[in-house]
Amino acid sequence: MIEGGRRIEGELRVQGSKNGALPILAATVVTGCTSILHRCPCLRDTDAALHILRHIGCDAVRSGESVIVRADAPQRWEIPESLMRCMRSSIIFLGALIARFGRAELTAPGGCEIGLRPIDLHVSALSALGVKTDERGGKLCCHAPNGLHGANITLSFPSVGATENILLCAVCAEGDTVIRNAAREPEISDLASFLNGCGARITGAGSDTIVVSPTGVFRANEHTIMPDRIAAATYLSTAAVTGGSIRLRESAPDSLLPVLPYFEQCGCVVRIAGDDVLLQSPQRLRAPRLVRTMPYPGFPTDFQPSAMVMAAVSLGTGVFVETIFENRFRHVPQLRRMGAHITVQSNVAVVEGVPRLNGAIVYATDLRGGAALVNAALCAEGETRIGCIGHIDRGYENFEHNLALLGAGIKRIDSDAE
Ligand code: UD1
Repeated sequence: MIEGGRRIEGELRVQGSKNGALPILAATVVTGCTSILHRCPCLRDTDAALHILRHIGCDAVRSGESVIVRADAPQRWEIPESLMRCMRSSIIFLGALIARFGRAELTAPGGCEIGLRPIDLHVSALSALGVKTDERGGKLCCHAPNGLHGANITLSFPSVGATENILLCAVCAEGDTVIRNAAREPEISDLASFLNGCGARITGAGSDTIVVSPTGVFRANEHTIMPDRIAAATYLSTAAVTGGSIRLRESAPDSLLPVLPYFEQCGCVVRIAGDDVLLQSPQRLRAPRLVRTMPYPGFPTDFQPSAMVMAAVSLGTGVFVETIFENRFRHVPQLRRMGAHITVQSNVAVVEGVPRLNGAIVYATDLRGGAALVNAALCAEGETRIGCIGHIDRGYENFEHNLALLGAGIKRIDSDAE
């Protein structure tokens, strides 16, 4: 429940990256050693990954911001549907299990609220490394009958998940692997850095060509997960829409370079001070120019919903073209309920700014769309109730607590108790 209209003011240390932590948690299985991960965010998705690790026989414990995984004796290479369902990105365990056991059995992740999310690129890349895949009754059965061997792989699209699955298998293969048109997201570099810390030899992560030279040995490693660039961008936009100001501490400003110009276009003053990012919003935001979501270093699709809320309350008209996922405007009908003027045709949304949104009863339809609704509610007039907030808990650590500390009128209510 949010009482809108209060300015967000203050500073916050950004949580560790969800999308960085998930593949690294899966990678702990590959190394077979003890991994200590710091700044591992406490989220529904990371909890789901810890459940999967325990299910396959690893010892995974959380201690504050850190997680310790002992992966010396996992015994299972299958993940049941009940665990796969908890987290759509559990497909990242595919590469990890094949690398460790030479086989994996899991349910296909299936459709997702933001799009179809097929795994054809994962399957064909793994096949180049020697993996045979059989899909029966919604189950994905993979094995590498002759072991994994290095390969030259050119992705037709720089898929983040496919690049991660290739890396996880390639570090255990016989011979070098070269990935061309690899995803360049900073989370890929973080995964490579973790694996290199464990003894792997991966070069080129962060560029479109990655080379993996297997070393055959792994060692225990301690790694700090990178800051969450999408959570950081979300908090910056919270300050922007409420006419406030914020200092994000330890936020890896370089990873935010694709979004910082957007805030400036909208009239915010952004400053980088060491590892911190500071934002001061104007009296009224200006409409952005054309926003087109693209793979990194393009504009991130995960920030599109919160960026759209900024446009919804700005002066002028903004246009958003979503090129990554086919169903990523599900927040739009909810924003319309709050008085936003947005029209959608296919993958294009036209947003005519209004001076003020109004409170309403709305529902989170997915993780980033849900966070965007929170931002909309924080700048709206009156009270908003947001339902289905479990989506938001997948990716934002201490969300309402952090926002309340920054001055927001927000509280979690148990709707069953009312
Ligand atoms: C990751 C992120 C997600 C982000 C997305 C794009 C994690 C846990 N999730 O998701 O937050 O929104 O990157 O930046 O890191 N595709 C195929 N075939 C495939 C694989 C992907 O067609 O085999 C398509 C997808 O349907 C989608 C596009 O490629 O349209 C991008 O997908 P991908 O880069 O793989 O995203 P994810 O790894 O699922």
